[in-house]
Amino acid sequence: MNATTSPAPYVHGYSEHEARRLGDQADTLAELLHAGTGYPAGSRVLEAGCGVGAQTVHLVASSPGARLVSVDVSGASLAQARERVRAQSPGADVQWHRADLFDLPFADASFNHLFVCFVLEHLRDPLKALTALRRVLRPGGTITVIEGDHGSAFFHPDSARARAAIGHLVRLQAGAGGDALIGRRLHPLLDAAGYGHVTVRPRTVYADRTRPALAEGFTRATFTAMVEAVGEKAVAAGLTTRADWDQGIADLHRTAEGDGTFHYTFFKAVAVRP
Ligand SMILES: C[S@@+](CC[C@H](N)C(=O)[O-])C[C@H]1O[C@@H](n2cnc3c(N)ncnc32)[C@H](O)[C@@H]1O
Repeated sequence: MNATTSPAPYVHGYSEHEARRLGDQADTLAELLHAGTGYPAGSRVLEAGCGVGAQTVHLVASSPGARLVSVDVSGASLAQARERVRAQSPGADVQWHRADLFDLPFADASFNHLFVCFVLEHLRDPLKALTALRRVLRPGGTITVIEGDHGSAFFHPDSARARAAIGHLVRLQAGAGGDALIGRRLHPLLDAAGYGHVTVRPRTVYADRTRPALAEGFTRATFTAMVEAVGEKAVAAGLTTRADWDQGIADLHRTAEGDGTFHYTFFKAVAVRP
């Protein structure tokens, strides 16, 4: 690893709180994000940056016969992923590897499909990552990439402090070398990395009081929890005051109550190695 390929300091951290948030996020959004992703029995699939296995359990459920290989740089996350899959899908065929996706210990063209979810946004050089991943994909094989874009968050009641809090998270992530607005860049990045037939489909989450499970599972437990978790860093960096921050977070919670509404768009890209 060198300065451009080493992971950016992971802005959300590896705490228990973050592991729970990733699980809530994946479970709440499973249908929205995994719809259309199913790999044939016997195909070899690489999940790059599996984290605590929050997506792995859904990959296993939707592609029961596929041979999944899940990698992450964090040994602690891999251990949690293994445990999650063992508990939720006993007998699932998953191989685990601690590895850097920029320098994978696999032969060229050794996978039929690649799956990468919520990883590129944390990397200093996502183009280099996609190019490195292409090496292990067979010609004709697909890569699926899913990312959010915090610029797509809007809500009612509107709140300048809530918008500012989201902006502080975007700045902190950029300061750590990542890009919380990467969803809109997936098409050009995949093009530039040499993939063909790139298609990007936005997947929108919209919650109001008729969708209480989404208001709780997404607006509160996923999005607001993610912003809330960087409060100490935002105050310490002098981006905001404690009072403004607390009001911004309270205003985000308010969008999950009563007449509140919340909108966010994820971007799901599928492309082919020529
Ligand atoms: C936000 S988590 C997403 C985890 C999972 N894909 C999900 O959607 O729940 C990002 C993960 O990417 C991993 N990661 C970051 N840089 C990496 C690298 N160079 N190689 C492998 N994994 C990496 C981190 O350790 C972290 O577990």
